[in-house]
Amino acid sequence: MIVRPYRQSDAPALALIFRRAVSETAARFYSAEQIAAWLFDPPEAGDIHEKNSDGRQALVAVDSNDAPCGWIDLESNGHVDMLFVSPDWVGRGVASLLHTELVRRAHELGIKRLFVEASEGARPIFGHFGFRLLQRRDFDLNGTPTHNYAMEKLL
Ligand SMILES: CC(C)(COP(=O)(O)OP(=O)(O)OC[C@H]1O[C@@H](n2cnc3c(N)ncnc32)[C@H](O)[C@@H]1OP(=O)(O)O)[C@@H](O)C(=O)NCCC(=O)NCCS
Repeated sequence: MIVRPYRQSDAPALALIFRRAVSETAARFYSAEQIAAWLFDPPEAGDIHEKNSDGRQALVAVDSNDAPCGWIDLESNGHVDMLFVSPDWVGRGVASLLHTELVRRAHELGIKRLFVEASEGARPIFGHFGFRLLQRRDFDLNGTPTHNYAMEKLL
């Protein structure tokens, strides 16, 4: 497993990872209605490529065949927008590898604060990475009440 910069050819695999990560992994922490709302309009490969081409850092963890297992991103203001790992790889340290590389990039870019809206399942994992809880966020997603957690890590 290595972490490398995102490439356009990764986009279809990342779109699939997003859907599976939400419908299989995140579904352990949210109701069926909340998962359906999250997947109401999921990002297609083109959306993911557009996002990852807007100047943000996008890092992809790949297996020995260069197949994506998960990815993370970092916007120039320190916001971590996406962290998704394939259910086939969950619990095997992929997110840890991605986070370590992300912090290295953030240091290079002079970013002093990382922040994220962590899902219920990701909250303890970001906590393990040294993020502190700021507040629970309750909001409406495509007509369904749901929640996540604002967290930050000072570098
Ligand atoms: C959240 C998610 C990205 C984590 O990915 P992962 O690859 O399974 O995570 P890892 O195996 O790298 O675990 C990360 C670290 O957290 C630790 N950890 C795992 N569960 C933990 C828990 N409940 N409490 C504290 N630490 C925990 C692990 O031990 C590991 O630390 P280590 O590498 O120092 O041993 C993945 O479960 C996922 O894609 N979930 C669905 C989508 C989602 O909710 N994404 C987040 C959107 S904000």
